[in-house]
Amino acid sequence: MAKRVILAYSGGLDTSIIVRWLTERGYEVITYTADVGQGEELTEIPDKARNAGAVEAIVEDLREEFAERYCLPTLKALALYEGKYPLSAALSRPLIAERLVYYAEKFKADYVAHGSTGKGNDQVRFELSVWALNPDIEVLAPVREWEFKSREEQVEYAKKFNIPVKATKEKPYSIDRNLWGVSIECGPLEDPWQEPPEDAYQITTSPEKAPDESEYVTVGFEKGRPVQLNGETYKSLAQLIEKLNGIGAKHGVGRIDMVENRLVGIKSREIYEAPGAVILYEAYRDLLSLTTDRFTFHYFLNHVPHEYAKLVYEGLWFTPLREALDAFTNKISELATGEVRLKLYKGSVQVVGRRSPNSLYVEELATYSEKDQFDQIAGKHFTRVWGLPLKVLGRVRRK
Ligand code: ARG
Repeated sequence: MAKRVILAYSGGLDTSIIVRWLTERGYEVITYTADVGQGEELTEIPDKARNAGAVEAIVEDLREEFAERYCLPTLKALALYEGKYPLSAALSRPLIAERLVYYAEKFKADYVAHGSTGKGNDQVRFELSVWALNPDIEVLAPVREWEFKSREEQVEYAKKFNIPVKATKEKPYSIDRNLWGVSIECGPLEDPWQEPPEDAYQITTSPEKAPDESEYVTVGFEKGRPVQLNGETYKSLAQLIEKLNGIGAKHGVGRIDMVENRLVGIKSREIYEAPGAVILYEAYRDLLSLTTDRFTFHYFLNHVPHEYAKLVYEGLWFTPLREALDAFTNKISELATGEVRLKLYKGSVQVVGRRSPNSLYVEELATYSEKDQFDQIAGKHFTRVWGLPLKVLGRVRRK
């Protein structure tokens, strides 16, 4: 009996070559393709897969699941890798791995395969996720070990097996796109000193070409979940994110240019476009500042965003740690109902207003007007007690 493998298939040249390469080595290949909001028509995928040699081609729309089960928890954690990257590509891997395992079990396949290289993070994310869900499944990654030494050799191989190679002059970039953002690397971006050429950006208008008029957007949250844009309710979180991507992109919002530490020890220069995510992060952080008490808010900011980002980046989605952090962020999101108003203008996004039925902001305490109810004598005593350690230290130092 042929060895059966479920391959994560994008429909591109690389994964099409993998289909053929595995078939040539006696595997029976079933391809798996998910719509996670990459903005591509997937109707031709099954034909492409079969043409390359697949016996079966599965295509699924996972946008809603991706938004609910992956983007939302990451938003609630305000997770940004190294303080900048909203983790779009990283987040899609455990979800795709889940489905690969599901279909491997359904079709009694002993193998799953992916098209990631041996230098990147994605191999780690795919494989750790698969093993966490089913330790008996073996993972194949042909790109890490096949014989092709250059792009030309791959193209030659593709032509030999009638795998269509796009005639159009190929862009030099490697691009990963989903609902939560676009990741772009390679080509001219490999020089970290060089400003990204305009054609590297896939979805955002450059701030210079963005409208001269600013635009306001109001995001409504219910228990930490974005549910409204400018008063309009969205049942679908994926649709809300897509809409916000469009609004932000128009104003050049959400461009990120960074050098990041990959898991395998390499520093790499990558640029990202994540207009929707960046707007939601700004909005949610601000709402939390209104509805979370000081002790909890400080603990959260100090401990959660960085830890959560690291575990997503490092392929540790299926860990009790991630679930425990979700429990934390879900707890503080219980009060995070309300609205945040933001202003978008030529690449910038600025929170300009916030309100909540659970607001902890008390005007009578904050005001400097005659409405003031704060006991200033309490302030005097508080300051004495709070400052006591410094008084004692000051005495010792002056000796
Ligand atoms: N560096 C990012 C990460 O590891 C994105 C990698 C996605 N790939 C790409 N072709 N840009 O999550």
